Amino acid sequence: MYRTHTCGELRISDVNKEVTLSGWIQKIRDLGSVIFIDLRDRYGITQLYFDNVLNPELLEQARKLGREYVLRIKGSVRERENKNPNIPTGDIEIVVKELEILNKSEVPPFTIEENTDGGEEQLMKYRYLDLRRPNLQRALLLRYQMARHIRNYLDQHNFVEIETPFLIKSTPEGARDFIVPSRLYRGSFYALPQSPQLFKQLLMVAGYDRYFQVVKCFRDEDFRADRQPEFTQIDCELSFVTQDDILNIFEGLAKYLFKTIKGIEFTDPFPRLSYSEAIERYGTDKPDLRFGMEIIDITSLLQGHGFKVFDSAKYIGGIKVEGKADFYSRKKIDQLTDFVKRPQIGAKGLAWIKYNTDGSVKSSVDKFYTPETLQKVLSELDAQPNDIVFIISGDKQLGLRALGELRLEIARSLRLIKEGDFKPLWVVDFPMFEWDEEEERYKAMHHPFTSPKQEDIPLLDRDPGKVRANAYDFVINGVEIGGGSIRIHKRDIQQKVFEILGLTPQEANEKFGFLLEAFKYGAPPHGGIAFGFDRWVAIFNGSKSIKDVIAFPKNSAGRDLMLDAPSPVSKEQLDELGIEIKPDTE
Ligand code: AMO
Repeated sequence: MYRTHTCGELRISDVNKEVTLSGWIQKIRDLGSVIFIDLRDRYGITQLYFDNVLNPELLEQARKLGREYVLRIKGSVRERENKNPNIPTGDIEIVVKELEILNKSEVPPFTIEENTDGGEEQLMKYRYLDLRRPNLQRALLLRYQMARHIRNYLDQHNFVEIETPFLIKSTPEGARDFIVPSRLYRGSFYALPQSPQLFKQLLMVAGYDRYFQVVKCFRDEDFRADRQPEFTQIDCELSFVTQDDILNIFEGLAKYLFKTIKGIEFTDPFPRLSYSEAIERYGTDKPDLRFGMEIIDITSLLQGHGFKVFDSAKYIGGIKVEGKADFYSRKKIDQLTDFVKRPQIGAKGLAWIKYNTDGSVKSSVDKFYTPETLQKVLSELDAQPNDIVFIISGDKQLGLRALGELRLEIARSLRLIKEGDFKPLWVVDFPMFEWDEEEERYKAMHHPFTSPKQEDIPLLDRDPGKVRANAYDFVINGVEIGGGSIRIHKRDIQQKVFEILGLTPQEANEKFGFLLEAFKYGAPPHGGIAFGFDRWVAIFNGSKSIKDVIAFPKNSAGRDLMLDAPSPVSKEQLDELGIEIKPDTE
C-alpha cells in the first residue's frame, strides 16, 4: 500500500494513528540531531519528524534525501510542539519509523513553492515542475470545477454536447488560419477551426435545438496576455430563440458560476449597454465598471473661444479624477501626457483643469478660456474642490479610445480597483460592419452570419455603416469573456450581407457553399454565443494572464519551450507532402 492518507488529510484527531504517506519532499530542515521534512502531494503538506534518539539510523538516511525525492513513509501521528496555524495539517507531525525512496530527483531548476524563484523561460521549459506548485494546482482545479458546473448548468437546460471536427476548411472569425497539409491530396490543406461556428449552425439546421461544446479553437494572431494561439471556448448555439432569450439563459449561467464558484450572488440583472453608449461613456466596447470616471463630451463648451487645437477638433472629452487635484503635480501630469501620446494610443496631448481647494480654477489652457468657461466644464463634470479634469481632443473615435485608456491607466496607478470585485455586463447592438481603411471595404464586426436588426434592414442598401446587428458581448471587469449573435437564416439577407462584404456569389459559394446549401432545407431561426473559457477562469482565479490557467500554454512568442515546438520536420515528411521550404529571404 502506498498510502493510508494524503498529505493534506491528518489532523489533531488522528494523533497516535499509524499511517503511511507518499509524496514529494518540499523542504528539509536539518537541525543536526533533528530533521524536519515537508512532504507534499496535491492535497497538502505534512511534516515528517526524525531524531537521533528515537531512530539514529533513520536520521542518517533522512540526511541523504534531497528536494523533490519521492518517498513512502510509515510512522505515527503526534501533536506538534510548534504548531503552524497557516496549514490545515499544522497541528500534527509524523514520527517516521520506516522510510522508502520511491524515486530520487535531480535538484529542480527552481523552488517548487507558492512563490518560486524560477524565471519565465525555466518555468515554461519545466512546466511539469511548475505545475506541482500549489497556485497552479489551484488554478487547474478551479478550471475543472468551472467546466463541471458549466456542463451541469447546460445539461439542466437541455443542451447536448456534440463534438465537431478539427481538420476542416477555413472559418470566418477574422484571424489567420493554422493550416495542415494533406498527404493524400498534395497541395491541398485543411484549416484548423478558429471556432466551430459553421458546424454549430449546421447542427441547428439538423434539428439539435441546443448545442454546446467545450472546444479548442485555433487562431494565428498576435499575442497578448489574454490570447493564445489555441484556446478553449464554451461554444453554444440554440434554435427558436430571440436575443433576449439567449442573454437570459447565459446570464443565468454566469450567475450560477458566480454563486457556486465564487460564492457571490447577483440578484439584479446585469447591466446592458449599447455599443455606442459603451464607447461614448467608457471609450471601449469592453468597459471596466469597477470604478467611475466616465467620459463626458465637452466639445460644445470648449469650442469657439479662439483656441485653435480645440476649435479644429471633431471631439473634446473629459474625465474627472476625484480628490486628486493636489496629487497631480506637473511631473505626474507629464507622465500621463506621455502615456496618451504613445503611438498605440495616439493622442496629440493632454489638457487639464484643476478645481483648487480654495475654490479657484487652474488649467493648462487658461490662456484661452475665462475662469467662467472653465468653471462650466467643471460643473458639467460635477467636479468638487480638489478634483481634476483631464481633457483629450481630436478625431472622435481616437479621442474616446484615448480617454478610455487614460481612464484605465489612472485607475491602475491610483489603485481604484478593489480586489475581488466583479462587474459583469452585456454590451449589445454592435454595428454590423466596420470600415477597413486599408482595404477600403466593409468587414463584418462579428462574422458574416450575424443578422442585422430587423428595423435596420432598409439601411443595408442606403448606409451599411449605420446598420446595427443582433450581436452581443459578455464582459467582466474590462475583459471580453464572450460574444455571439442571432444568425441570418434567410438566404436573401445572407446574400446581401456577402455583397456588402465584397464577396461575389461565386466567392461566397466557394467559401461557405455548404452552409448556403444547407439553408435551402429549412434552417430554423437560431443564434448563439461562445465564451473564452481561459479568460473566464483567469478572471475568477485573479490571474493577469490566461497562461496561468492553462496546463501547457505557449509562451508569449507562440512557442512551447518544453516540447520545443514549432520545430522543423524531416525532409522525408516534407517530400511526402510535396512541400519545399523556401530559403529565408530576409
Ligand atoms: P469570438 O471570436 O468573439 O466569437 O470568440 C469568443 C470568445 O473567445 C475568446 N477568445 C480568445 N481567448 C483566448 N485566446 C484567443 N486568441 C481568443 N480569441 C477569442 C474571447 C471571445 O469573447 N463563433 C463566435 C461565437 C458566436 O458567434 O457564437 C466566436 O468565436 O473571450
